[in-house]
Amino acid sequence: MSHEAYVISVFIHVIAACMWIGGMLFLILAFIPGIKMQPNKVNLIADVSLKYRNVGAVALAALLFTGILQLEYRGVRWTMEYFTTSSFGKMVGLKIVVFILIAIISLVHDYYLGARAIEIWKNQPDHPRTTKLRTLSRLLGRVSFVFALVAAWLGIILARGW
Ligand code: HEM
Repeated sequence: MSHEAYVISVFIHVIAACMWIGGMLFLILAFIPGIKMQPNKVNLIADVSLKYRNVGAVALAALLFTGILQLEYRGVRWTMEYFTTSSFGKMVGLKIVVFILIAIISLVHDYYLGARAIEIWKNQPDHPRTTKLRTLSRLLGRVSFVFALVAAWLGIILARGW
C-alpha cells in the first residue's frame, strides 16, 4: 500500500469518526432537547433516527474498512500471538473488541429496541412499557457513545503513542 493511499485512508477514517461521534453529540446536545416541547416529538425522533441509522451504518463500515487498511500499512501480523504480546497489538486488539461492542449495541439499539420503543410510543405514549423501552434505548445509546470515545482515544494512542 502506498503512503498516499494510507494518508487518504486516515482522512476517511477521521471523517467517519467525526460523522459517528458528531452525529451522536448533535442528537444528545441539540436535537433531543430542542424538540422537547414539540407535540409531534415522537414522529420527529422516528424520522431523524431512521436517516441517522443509515449514515451511522456507512460511518461504521468505513471505520472498519479504513482501520484494516491502516493496520496493513503498519505491518500488523494477524496472529493471536501478535495481539496478545506486542503493546501495539494489545491496543489494536482492545480497539477491535470495543468496535465489535459498538456494532452489537448499535444493531440492538437501531434495529430492535429503538425501533420497538418508537412503535409502542406512537400507539401508547403513556404505557409503562413505552417508558421502559425509551429508558433502555437511551441507556444503550449513551453506552455506545462512551465506547465510541474510547475507540477514538485508542486510535489517537495508536497513531501517536502515549
Ligand atoms: C467507532 C469506531 C472508531 C472510531 C471512533 C475511531 C477513531 C479513530 C481516531 C480518532 C483515530 C486517530 C487518528 C489520528 O490521530 O491520526 C484513529 C486511528 C486509528 N484507527 Fe480507528 N476508530 C474506530 C474504529 C477502528 C477500527 C474498527 C479499526 C481497525 C480495524 C481502527 C484502526 C485504527 C488505526 C490502525 C489507527 C491509527 C491510524 C494511523 O496509522 O495513524 N479504528 N481511529
